[in-house]
Amino acid sequence: MKFLFAGDIVGRSGRNALRLHLENNKYDFIVANVENSAAGFGITDKVYNDLKSMKIHAMTAGNHVWDKKEVETCIDKWDMFIRPANISSKACGQGYRIFDACGRKICVINLLGRVFMNISNCPFESFDNIYESLDKDCFIIVDFHGEATSEKIAFGNYVKNRAHVVTGTHTHVQTNDLRLMDNTLYLTDAGMCGAYDSILGMEKESIIDRFTTNMPHRFKVETKGNILFNGFSFTIDDDNIIRDYKLINEVYESVEA
Ligand SMILES: [Fe+2]
Ligand SMILES: [Fe+2]
Repeated sequence: MKFLFAGDIVGRSGRNALRLHLENNKYDFIVANVENSAAGFGITDKVYNDLKSMKIHAMTAGNHVWDKKEVETCIDKWDMFIRPANISSKACGQGYRIFDACGRKICVINLLGRVFMNISNCPFESFDNIYESLDKDCFIIVDFHGEATSEKIAFGNYVKNRAHVVTGTHTHVQTNDLRLMDNTLYLTDAGMCGAYDSILGMEKESIIDRFTTNMPHRFKVETKGNILFNGFSFTIDDDNIIRDYKLINEVYESVEA
């Protein structure tokens, strides 16, 4: 069974990068981080359905999960959407979901880091609680949405041999450390799908203006130029053992969809 994980999808450029990657590659199960998929901030019903039409199986989120107001009214009908688990129990939506695919149970969990991020509950403890509730034959994929490399590597070591796959998201820059921690496939950050010549997928000018003036500027998704696809793939055998894994870092010529 072959899996794909796609890093933070940033706006239309990111969705086009995913579309192009999937034109030439086949997977049995696809997870994508979609927290920036609607114009760089959050997700809308229209974008959710666009991604769904690409045959994605699970969509994870992050600190931008609530950026678009309509999330709150749509989240209960989005059956492949997973918001961070380690927030208030009063929040709408689900922090993990279990999917049936190829005769297996696949659990996808989304967690927020706490270093250089807004306040959330302990992601380590949240994982423990979710793990205890799962059937032991579940294949577990964790998207740990965090800023700090140390926190992500610590989390990987904490959950190794319990979670099957742990990947960081959020920084939009792919790291080169995809590896097995015992039986757990670990990556510090999956990177980004979006405009190649950009700052984390956004137009460069407004970001540079913000840094140089300390004044607020409206950020816009970069839609010109080549587009980048970042993620990783792996296969598992009948016993949920990961047999091969590969970072994916591809650049495509720009297309208009
Ligand atoms: Fe992001
Ligand atoms: Fe983020």
